[in-house]
Amino acid sequence: MTALTLSTAGAPGLRADAIVVGVAKGTKGPVVAPGAEAVDKAYDGKLADVLETLGASGAEGEVTKLPAPAGFKAPLVLAVGLGAEPEKDAGYDGEALRRAAGVAARALAGSKKAAFLLPLTDAADAGAVGEGALLGAYSFDTYKENGKDAKSAGGKAPLADVVLLGGKPRDRAYKAAIERATAVAEELNRARDLVNTPPNDLNPAAFAAIAQDAAKAHGLKVQVLDEKALAKGGYGGILGVGSGSASAPRLVKLSYTTSKAKKHLALVGKGITYDSGGISLKPAGHNETMKCDMSGAAAVFAAVVAAARLGLEVNVTGWLALAENMPSGSATRPGDVLRMFSGKTVEVLNTDAEGRLVLADALWAASQEKPDAIVDVATLTGAMVLALGNRTFGVMANDEAFRTAVHEAAEEVGEEAWPMPLPEHLRKGMDSPVADIANMGERMGGGLVAGLFLREFIGDGITWAHLDIAGPAFNEQGPFGYTPKGGTGSAVRTLVRLAELTASGDLG
Ligand code: BES
Ligand code: MN
Ligand code: ZN
Repeated sequence: MTALTLSTAGAPGLRADAIVVGVAKGTKGPVVAPGAEAVDKAYDGKLADVLETLGASGAEGEVTKLPAPAGFKAPLVLAVGLGAEPEKDAGYDGEALRRAAGVAARALAGSKKAAFLLPLTDAADAGAVGEGALLGAYSFDTYKENGKDAKSAGGKAPLADVVLLGGKPRDRAYKAAIERATAVAEELNRARDLVNTPPNDLNPAAFAAIAQDAAKAHGLKVQVLDEKALAKGGYGGILGVGSGSASAPRLVKLSYTTSKAKKHLALVGKGITYDSGGISLKPAGHNETMKCDMSGAAAVFAAVVAAARLGLEVNVTGWLALAENMPSGSATRPGDVLRMFSGKTVEVLNTDAEGRLVLADALWAASQEKPDAIVDVATLTGAMVLALGNRTFGVMANDEAFRTAVHEAAEEVGEEAWPMPLPEHLRKGMDSPVADIANMGERMGGGLVAGLFLREFIGDGITWAHLDIAGPAFNEQGPFGYTPKGGTGSAVRTLVRLAELTASGDLG
């Protein structure tokens, strides 16, 4: 795991493999961002000109490497693009810093130690740079031959040591920001690992065991319902989805509680460890990445552990609805009716609409504790990917103010999200001639239909939001910013922020 520290050392004397500086796009060419004055001075104040000669413009994502000036212990300067230079007196946007730090960390894979001299106006900026660097310094090598020695980041090990210069190492706010960045990034990276783990190894029982280990390590309460307990409790949704698999389903309840809490936030994650579609089997081309269908549960898991590590003054309960959706002689059929944990019956018209079935049981279970709010996270619908693309998750809610608050929390931490409606007229498409509701409705607006289905399983009077992360959860394209290929850790930072806002009483 990459280490993150603040240091007061001067850049020239620092023993490191590289010095990272920021370059922004000014109106008349590249400009060196604040923080890199010592480096610029060593180039006789001409670093911007040198960078321009090398073709740098300051565009976001750009990397320019140049030999360090005389008198520097580090051999290399890496200039990372920050995008447009902010207006006079305005600082750099936190997300621009986070992305640039991520780009630099990725470009430095194979190096041991780098000093970051990016513009820091306050502790939050230091947190953003630290978070970006730790998220960029990620690789998933578990399944590469030779284990740790075969590195996925272009054959190189991730950057091991990140030192931030220009902050205030003794300042409490800075220390807290670095601690927060470390806890959030480490847990987020763990969520990425879970998503990237192949489904033959990460089945529901294996995921539950990992949650139990984490609970022990972080002093959390954990309760695992296995298939027998689920049958006894009447969790027909989770059991129905899991019935086709040789690996039985689980419902995991992971609780972080503190005597200082005034509020209780419940988080519910879709944890389909593999989604084949079931009897309504997905065609080839649609099932290769479906190990990612537990990304919601991974995000919830990471957020609960991060909340505990940060000692947030709020009770957070995570519910992981874990099942594998497979076709077999024991699988649920299109036409079957399931009796859900809430007592409602559901006619399963399409076994590939399984996420809403496991979530329905977990949402009703979460509702029984009457939390102040419930937020669920799920790779729920292809329709949401069509609507919002691969980088933005949809936010639906039974309360408009809460939906806005969740959207704003996401933007605040640098996650792209967008509010989506729950149009009442789409509910009747799920009317069933035999059951209380069908698990499918109109094809058009499929993401909203799924949201309306979930709403049926929220306890009366409980504020609820639903995040459909089907687009951003898994990156099939090349890496960008601090986001790697594969599992992204989507929604983790938003959930942690929501827990913080609930703790401070600033959320609904
Ligand atoms: N896990 C999928 C949704 C998904 C699609 C996630 C693409 C990530 C990327 C979900 O279980 C699913 O199959 N949904 C169906 C629902 C339909 C049958 C009503 C869909 O969106 O096609
Ligand atoms: Mn499905
Ligand atoms: Zn699914």
